[in-house]
Amino acid sequence: MKHNGTEKQYLRFTRLNRTLHIIMIVSFISLSLTGMILKFSYTGWAVLLSHLFGGFESAGNIHRFAAVMMFGIFVTHIIDLFRMKRHEHLSLKELLFGKNSMMFNRKDWRDFVGNLKWFLGKGPRPNYGRWTYWEKFDYFAVFWGIFVIGSTGLMLWFPEFFTRFIPGWFINVATIIHSDEALLAVGFIFTVHFFNTHLRPEKFPMDIVVFTGRMDVEEFKNDKPEEYEELVAKGELEKYLVEPYQPIVIKAVRVFGWTALTIGFSIVVWIIYAMIFTYR
Ligand code: HEM
Repeated sequence: MKHNGTEKQYLRFTRLNRTLHIIMIVSFISLSLTGMILKFSYTGWAVLLSHLFGGFESAGNIHRFAAVMMFGIFVTHIIDLFRMKRHEHLSLKELLFGKNSMMFNRKDWRDFVGNLKWFLGKGPRPNYGRWTYWEKFDYFAVFWGIFVIGSTGLMLWFPEFFTRFIPGWFINVATIIHSDEALLAVGFIFTVHFFNTHLRPEKFPMDIVVFTGRMDVEEFKNDKPEEYEELVAKGELEKYLVEPYQPIVIKAVRVFGWTALTIGFSIVVWIIYAMIFTYR
């Protein structure tokens, strides 16, 4: 849906959340590129790319730096959740299981079944609320990734420290877990996540809401009808309407978005090539 550039837009994401998402993209792409260079170091592409990063050792250092960025984002997000809890006077139960929480609930299951029916032309599109079930899934994928990839990454980084508590052979296991789970994460983000957010027909070729935080009211109404109807019923929609960004900002955002999409898709092509033709 095109925007004429003057009407007010609905504000979906706070400035902090947008900033965190941008830093997460930079950090995740850096981790993926440098990680894949190490994993597929025997391919010509890895050798070529390693020069860009100053060699394999330097790629490993950039990998660790990007990992610190990722941990930083994660911790900031958790602190922000507790800040929100205090600010909005929510109980822990309300924070975790309230209407707009990211936790899965029964409606997500109904929406999932409804969506399958909609795909088959056997029902209407579900009345999605603030977060769809696939957005919640992607959100928790990051928690899982931080837990599994992050913890094993720390073991590879500080093996002397960790082998005070775990047997030495577990470092080999940690390498396999880290490497294969990373492959899964990269494969998931650059295909399923990219498709769900950017390539599905309503959003194609790119949805920039996570960068600008804003979306057209008409688009909001179609995309998250339940949330829209609730805000209108409570008379609160106006509170969330803001001026759109200048065209130059939108252009810069699109350049950043296209760069991220291109790098992501290229990494997928490279992984498929490495797995089919050169896998060891
Ligand atoms: C977030 C915390 C992370 C930490 C602390 C971490 C740390 C590490 C360390 C220390 C290594 C060994 C590097 C070397 O040998 O020089 C490594 C390897 C690797 N990392 Fe990470 N990493 C993290 C996240 C990620 C992510 C998000 C990905 C990809 C999405 C990833 C993909 C890889 C891959 C593919 C390797 C090569 C493993 C192999 O040799 O097969 N890492 N990581």
